[in-house]
Amino acid sequence: MENPFKYGGVVRRPYFADREREVAELVREMENLGRVFLISPRRFGKTCLLHHLRVHLEEKGMASAYLDLNAYPDIKSFAAAFARLTSEAIESNTEKLLKIFGGLKRLRPKVSVGPDGSLSGSLEAVAGDTEAIPTLIEAMRHAEDLTGKKGRKLVVIIDEFSDLVKYNGETLEKAMRSEIQQHQSIGYILSGSEESVMLSLTRDRKRAFYKLGRIMELGPIERESYAEFIMGWFRKGAFPVSRRDIERILELGGDVPYNIQRLCHVLWDLSGESREGKPIMIEELPRIISGQDSPHFEMLWHSVSSPQKALLEALAKEPDAKPFSRQFHLAHGIGPSSSIKASLESLTKKGILQRTRSGGYQFSDGFMRHWILNLGEPQQ
Ligand SMILES: Nc1ncnc2c1ncn2[C@@H]1O[C@H](COP(=O)(O)OP(=O)(O)OP(=O)(O)O)[C@@H](O)[C@H]1O
Ligand SMILES: [Mg+2]
Repeated sequence: MENPFKYGGVVRRPYFADREREVAELVREMENLGRVFLISPRRFGKTCLLHHLRVHLEEKGMASAYLDLNAYPDIKSFAAAFARLTSEAIESNTEKLLKIFGGLKRLRPKVSVGPDGSLSGSLEAVAGDTEAIPTLIEAMRHAEDLTGKKGRKLVVIIDEFSDLVKYNGETLEKAMRSEIQQHQSIGYILSGSEESVMLSLTRDRKRAFYKLGRIMELGPIERESYAEFIMGWFRKGAFPVSRRDIERILELGGDVPYNIQRLCHVLWDLSGESREGKPIMIEELPRIISGQDSPHFEMLWHSVSSPQKALLEALAKEPDAKPFSRQFHLAHGIGPSSSIKASLESLTKKGILQRTRSGGYQFSDGFMRHWILNLGEPQQ
């Protein structure tokens, strides 16, 4: 049986856990063509949830288009993808699609013929850079008109939405907002992590997206049903894992879905090996994973200064400490506060640490903490 605990990419059914409440809520919002900002810390499962949601939307007869802003280096390529993916969501017939593409002013269809003679179409922007924003607005209006004409409902999902700032344009943000506000056939889900500028994009009253829609904060997967999901797979594999073991895994993973999937993945592999042998040591799992990721952590470690290393070691030993407290400085021989502040800022910028909602700091990747704790220990 293949390892059912997938990580690192989009996880789909039957390997996708729970999120029923969140899916139901998003479906409801989209039936009303709402606008939702989906925000969570990194690796909480936004992208997986959005792909899963698309299946549910389809079941309800709604069309959807998914765009990851990471993939589009400039506004024109974003515009071309917006027009193509929204049109494809509404119309599947290639000939009709090409006709639809032909109606666009600032985007030109490109037709390619497959080895079997089948036609497929894509789009490219024809206008110059000064026309980039009008091209995007044309693409958005086109999606709205097409959806309305067909009497459909369309959900546009933009993932990594905070990447919008890379296009560097207040004018763009304002133009997008006013366009979105006019749409009556399209619901929007704009998703991003809270470490990114997502919060300031949506909560700062001076920014264009302020109060454009509701903010939905995605939390961890509900413990009870996640535990059931995990238990179900271990039972299927006839592996000797108890409910208590799973509770401990949820704790060790800090309720971050990515961490939990990895812990379970390794546990599954080890269970396969040790069914007859030594009992599995749950407490060993984080160290094993940190060993697997060691090359990555080593690279990060080499990129930081000595005082920053000392601070990271102190935080690894005392993750709940208040980094500015005198007692923390004395216990670990670090300080003064001014240099701690500079170190924290730099480590956050590098993505090694992240701010918690309560204003503290934690490792962005919890396994790096274990890696640091094991520094100097012989590798196995
Ligand atoms: N519902 C789920 N069931 C199983 N695994 C999940 C689920 N949600 C998330 N995961 C695990 O967490 C990993 C990260 O999820 P995902 O990429 O969706 O997070 P994200 O919030 O989009 O992260 P980022 O902010 O970095 O883009 C997945 O590869 C998967 O292993
Ligand atoms: Mg994501």
